[in-house]
Amino acid sequence: MRATWLESEKPMAMSELLAQGVHYEQWPTKEGAYQTCVDVLMEARGYVEQDIIDLSEATPGLDALCERFIDEHLHSDDEVRFVLAGEGIFDIRSTDDRWMRVLVEAGDLIVVAAKRHHRFLLTDQRRIRCVRLFKDRSGWVPEYRRCSEDTGSVSAVRV
Ligand SMILES: [Fe+2]
Repeated sequence: MRATWLESEKPMAMSELLAQGVHYEQWPTKEGAYQTCVDVLMEARGYVEQDIIDLSEATPGLDALCERFIDEHLHSDDEVRFVLAGEGIFDIRSTDDRWMRVLVEAGDLIVVAAKRHHRFLLTDQRRIRCVRLFKDRSGWVPEYRRCSEDTGSVSAVRV
């Protein structure tokens, strides 16, 4: 995991990220080895469903799928991802509405809290395989940000 303030590219300390309400852990990626960690987190935070998402060039409609997550949005449920392979980028709004850029790779567990604006991008690898956890799948529909100041590269509004 690498976190930076997007505007200044200044690295963020783990404590800074945690203080911003972004939960992060490192877990083993071996099949079977990480499930205990998953179970503990599910119990602690009330997640009830688990699945795996696998995005790569072999995924039908990969670009269209990525388009859904590239615009700034939030969910009424936490966005929980444990990366098994590949990598991805979460841009997450700080409490004072600045962008924090978090690169996640194999072994990284990240929780973007419910109601926190964010966006997700694949890296040039265009490959990520993650465990996802949910409290309620209906809470994971993206709600796009209607308007935002200082959004930089955030594109047009889609609701
Ligand atoms: Fe999201």
